[in-house]
Amino acid sequence: MSFISVLHPTAPYTTYVSQTQAPSINDIRSLLRAVIDPELGDNIVDLGMAGDITFTDGLVTVAMKLTIKGCPLRVQIRNDIESRLLAHPAITKVTIDWGEMTPDERTAVMTRARWNAKEQASDTAVPANTRILAIASGKGGVGKSSVTVNLAAALAQAGKTVGVLDADIWGFSIPRMLGMPDRLQARAVDGRDKPMIVPNVRVVGSGLLKVVSTGMLVEDESTALMWRGLMLTKAVEQFLHDVEWGELDYLLIDMPPGTGDVQMGLARMLPRTDLLIVTTPAVSAQKVAIRAADMARRSFLRVAGVIENMSTFECDHGTQYALFGTGGGQTLADEIGVKLLGQVPIESTVAAGGDSGEPVVLSNTGKAAGVFLAIAKRIIDDTPDMTEMSGCSARTEDIVPVSVRSR
Ligand SMILES: Nc1ncnc2c1ncn2[C@@H]1O[C@H](COP(=O)(O)OP(=O)(O)O)[C@@H](O)[C@H]1O
Ligand SMILES: [Mg+2]
Repeated sequence: MSFISVLHPTAPYTTYVSQTQAPSINDIRSLLRAVIDPELGDNIVDLGMAGDITFTDGLVTVAMKLTIKGCPLRVQIRNDIESRLLAHPAITKVTIDWGEMTPDERTAVMTRARWNAKEQASDTAVPANTRILAIASGKGGVGKSSVTVNLAAALAQAGKTVGVLDADIWGFSIPRMLGMPDRLQARAVDGRDKPMIVPNVRVVGSGLLKVVSTGMLVEDESTALMWRGLMLTKAVEQFLHDVEWGELDYLLIDMPPGTGDVQMGLARMLPRTDLLIVTTPAVSAQKVAIRAADMARRSFLRVAGVIENMSTFECDHGTQYALFGTGGGQTLADEIGVKLLGQVPIESTVAAGGDSGEPVVLSNTGKAAGVFLAIAKRIIDDTPDMTEMSGCSARTEDIVPVSVRSR
């Protein structure tokens, strides 16, 4: 059996089970393969959730490990297990011993679920070797767009080709912040039945920015609001499918605030997306940001790190003021088990750069620019050389933990 088919069991397992005599443990396991964890999109046996099974005198005992103890799906999973097993004439009673996965087991399950989601995702026009980073937060105004344009500019300055997709469809700000207001053009492409959108391009150092935004389709924000619910709901999907991205080292996606449809749609279309979660140091903001992390968990996206923005304000005398509190970024990073990639101070040059279309990293003045550059460097250091890896399934196998492969 090939690797893929091991991960994607399609066989109708239940047909193997004899209905006339006492079931073997394997029979019971086969019956349990019909119980799907709807959140993880796979059956509880292949997900490693169903552990030890015993059968004596009509009684089945199943050791079930949940991803988290308080899993809201527990009742549904119990009902499904009972109805599947009790359908067997030789099984009269079912007892479930509930437990919780270890962090390692949870990681393996998430990797497997992410892998499944990847296999089921539709093709997009984003090249397979592009590292995709979505900049997300629980709420607006924390600096997602500022982080997006500064990281994009810093990566481009380091010689990378960087796509920027403004997925904040109704609150777009990328065209202004990158000084790129031009309307998008489309053109016919060989082998495509419809024209492709050509991203707007800006040369930065030895690198390149390729940018698309609904702000490049509509006149202004009030027009965008008027179109709400019409064609714009499809904009992100279209930007992923119908933009002629060409070569891209990175694709940075400026997400709308919150955890709604755009986020789930992105997770479905581009499940290899990594999230960068932006928060302010205030504990209240950090709590809101947890929602973004929770969305990531539900949609199997990996969180690549947390960025704390508006960390401190330094006055002309060099005194630091924690205007929006302290510690939110680190607390959030610890809570979701990822790194705090940097703390960006409050500096008027960040806001001014956004207004003038010249991200502050390009003038490299002040501490905020230094932090953005350092985060970009960490991202580059953390990104494998994808050109070497593309099209090589053996390498893909390398990055799937053995625990997931060797069942
Ligand atoms: N580190 C910072 N220092 C000063 N102003 C900032 C900083 N980060 C963001 N801002 C300003 O705060 C406002 C909100 O930032 P923005 O990037 O638009 O947030 P979001 O995209 O999350 O809504 C903007 O006016 C922006 O210029
Ligand atoms: Mg924004």
